[in-house]
Parts: sequence; C-alpha cells; structure tokens
Amino acid sequence: MTPEHDITSHYARDDLLERLRASLVEDGIDPDHPTIEALAHYDHFHGRGLEATTEIADRLEVAPADHLLDIGSGLGGPARFFARRFGCRVTGIDLTEAFCEVARRLTRTLALDDRVDFVHGNALDMPFAAARYDGAYSMNVSMNIKDKDRLYREVARVLKPGAWLVFSELLRGAGAEPDYPTPWARSAETSFLSTLEDTHRALQAAGFELTETRVTREENLAFGARSRAAVERGEKPPHRAVQLVHPEIARVAAANTARGVADGRLIPVELFARKPR
Ligand SMILES: C[S@@+](CC[C@H](N)C(=O)[O-])C[C@H]1O[C@@H](n2cnc3c(N)ncnc32)[C@H](O)[C@@H]1O
Repeated sequence: MTPEHDITSHYARDDLLERLRASLVEDGIDPDHPTIEALAHYDHFHGRGLEATTEIADRLEVAPADHLLDIGSGLGGPARFFARRFGCRVTGIDLTEAFCEVARRLTRTLALDDRVDFVHGNALDMPFAAARYDGAYSMNVSMNIKDKDRLYREVARVLKPGAWLVFSELLRGAGAEPDYPTPWARSAETSFLSTLEDTHRALQAAGFELTETRVTREENLAFGARSRAAVERGEKPPHRAVQLVHPEIARVAAANTARGVADGRLIPVELFARKPR
C-alpha cells in the first residue's frame, strides 16, 4: 500500500452523500436546497470549522478577479465560502476522489459551479501551469504530507509573484506524539507533524516571505469547550465534519486532538506568507 492509498482510505466513504443528506434532514434542512450556512457545519473539515475559515478570510484581501487555489479541498466548504464571500474563482485539488465528487455535487447545488471547480490530484505534483494563482490556502492538510519541502516548492511554482499563501495546521509541540486516532490519521504512520521552526524554515527555503504566524490554541480550546457544552445540552455541536466522515472514531479522535492541544503536544497555527514579487 502506498501512503497515498492509506490516506485516501482514511477519508473516503461510499455513503458520504447519503449520510450528509440524512444529517441535513435531521437539522430540518431540505437536502436538495441547503444553504451554504446549513452545509457549513459539515463541509469545513478542519479545527473550528467555519469559525476558522471566517477568521482567515477576514485577514485577506481578495479581488473578484482573483483565482485562488485550495490545496486539499475536501468537501469544498472553504472553497465555496471564499467564492461567495469575495466573488472570486476557486480551484480545489484533493487526493480523495470521493471528496472531489461530493464537493462538485454540493457546488452545483449551490449554483457556484461557474466559479468553483475541483480537481482530483496530489498537492505534491499539481496539474497546473506555473504562476497561475493569485492566492492559495490549505486547511488541515499538510499533517498528511511527509515531504513538506516538496509541497511548499510545488505551491510556490503555481503561485503568481506577489501572491499570498495561508496554511492552517496542527504542528508538533513539546513532548510525545499525540494519541491516535485523530481526525486526520488513524495512526502515526500517516501523520507527519512538523515543528514551528521547521515549518518556517521550509516555507522560507521554498522562497516564501512569512507575514504572520497566528497560534490559535486559546481559540481552539474555547471552541472545544463550547462544543462540549452544546452536546451536554443535547444539541449538535457546531462542527460536525469529523462525525460525518469518521462516525466510528469521531468521539475519540476529537478527544485525542483536544487533549493534545491542551497539553501542548499539538499546536494549532495559521501561517500567512507571500511569494515575493
Ligand atoms: C482534514 S481534511 C481537510 C479538508 C479541507 N481542507 C477542509 O478544511 O474542509 C484533509 C484533506 O487533505 C487531503 N489530502 C491529504 N493529502 C493530500 C495530498 N497529498 N494532496 C491533496 N490532498 C491531500 C485529504 O484527501 C483530505 O480531503
């Protein structure tokens, strides 16, 4: 088995669309006509979900004429969010074909398919021309990618001079590996966590200028506490992507991540960078 196969089999499920539709019905939403807001509980598959996507977007300047790249686009929630918010074009690329299919379907349902598209492929070897994109972001993807030097070089290749880049990810903190499973990996074999120092060094080696590093530990812990309180009240938590994709491990995966963030083995960060002009 290749590492790519292990990663896609961690994420892919045949019944994803049916499970999503059933969840929407439970929420009182018509699954044939969901709003982008109703879907956002499920299709922003990264720590703090829509809250984190919104905070990242708030820090960026994007023009309607811009074409953005979403690296590891998952079910496409962030891509549709950026397209709706900024009126721009977004192309997503993802290793998991089943995710690309669901992402395309949801994008058609929201009538955003004239501006948002999804390509099945590997972020390490993207089928895109050089200097094509005005900005790129990647949310909770690089934890699955071992060769980060190659990843950053490949992202630098497809960005225009002056383009921005954002990576949100969980970094390795002090001490041991986190406990597995986590939402991104069943075991340490498909989890490749980097330190903050190594990440900064690798981004700079690929030619990026670092513009901001935002450690979101407090936000992450507060979001976890609010989510647990909602569950205790008998409500659904705001972020339901892990439960949708990994129902059999969701509870323990979320608890393992929360514990790792609380005790410092995991550091949630948002890294903002720019390709020089
Ligand atoms: C935790 S999900 C995040 C999805 C999306 N970024 C979001 O925030 O909703 C991680 C995604 O990374 C994708 N992925 C992992 N390794 C990849 C690679 N080498 N190239 C492209 N996508 C990859 C997986 O298929 C999965 O969709």
